[in-house]
Amino acid sequence: MEQRLASPLLQISGLTRHFGGLPALDQVSFQVAEGRVTALIGPNGAGKTTLINCLSGVLEPDSGTIIFQDRDITGLSPHQVARLGIARTFQNLRIFPRMSVLDNVLCGLTVQAGGSLLEALLRTPGLRHRERRLKLTALEALDSFGLGDKAGWPAGALSYGDKKRVEMARAFVSQPVLILLDEPVAGLNPEETAQIAALIRQMRVYGKTMLLVEHDMDLVMGVSDHVVVLDGGCRIAQGPPDEIQVNPLVLEAYLGRMSATA
Ligand SMILES: Nc1ncnc2c1ncn2[C@@H]1O[C@H](COP(=O)(O)OP(=O)(O)O)[C@@H](O)[C@H]1O
Ligand SMILES: [Mg+2]
Repeated sequence: MEQRLASPLLQISGLTRHFGGLPALDQVSFQVAEGRVTALIGPNGAGKTTLINCLSGVLEPDSGTIIFQDRDITGLSPHQVARLGIARTFQNLRIFPRMSVLDNVLCGLTVQAGGSLLEALLRTPGLRHRERRLKLTALEALDSFGLGDKAGWPAGALSYGDKKRVEMARAFVSQPVLILLDEPVAGLNPEETAQIAALIRQMRVYGKTMLLVEHDMDLVMGVSDHVVVLDGGCRIAQGPPDEIQVNPLVLEAYLGRMSATA
């Protein structure tokens, strides 16, 4: 069943991407509504990360279009995409372990504020000028992600769960229009998972629009408004979580494969 949305923030149409002749994404279409949590689920290898990489400019799709706020952003660079207000976290953590937690989060702000990651790392005079104001914003973000007391720690010294939260704080700190979360609870224990779920719900209350890529069905069902299911690069279903949970196609493709690979 196609869900018609009045004014989607993001519109993905016919997105296709091959790797060595094999389709990782095959004509995938769906929309992301403003102020909602849209989940993208599917078994390992379904194409979830490839889709996020196409969205964030890391990969160029072979065909299809990505429309963000009525603008065609297909094929833009990661930097251009970030400046338009799309932030992301990575399935495999990308934090700077020797930098402080605060500086890691500041990177998210300086990229958004028009600087480059290089500028952020080199600490140019222009950046220093803005830094005091940015620092305050970053500290506030760290507070809301429960990391206020660890701002001065080297990020590498944090637990895995805290590192995931640093990535999230870095993605959220720039007040992006759309946040892409790639498996934010992968590798976390149940307590840490519950903390991330609470943070996602809190951000949703603040009106943040999120595209949540997740392997963990329980998390998805607990936090999302709309669920899109990929399998083998194709969209096999979409709908509200309670419908998806009992959709026979999803149960067969997604849960069947899950138990086979567990
Ligand atoms: N850089 C790459 N080179 C070759 N094949 C890739 C690459 N990235 C992903 N793939 C393949 O594309 C398919 C989808 O992968 P991916 O998007 O990572 O799935 P998911 O995130 O849903 O687990 C898989 O078959 C994977 O092996
Ligand atoms: Mg993935």
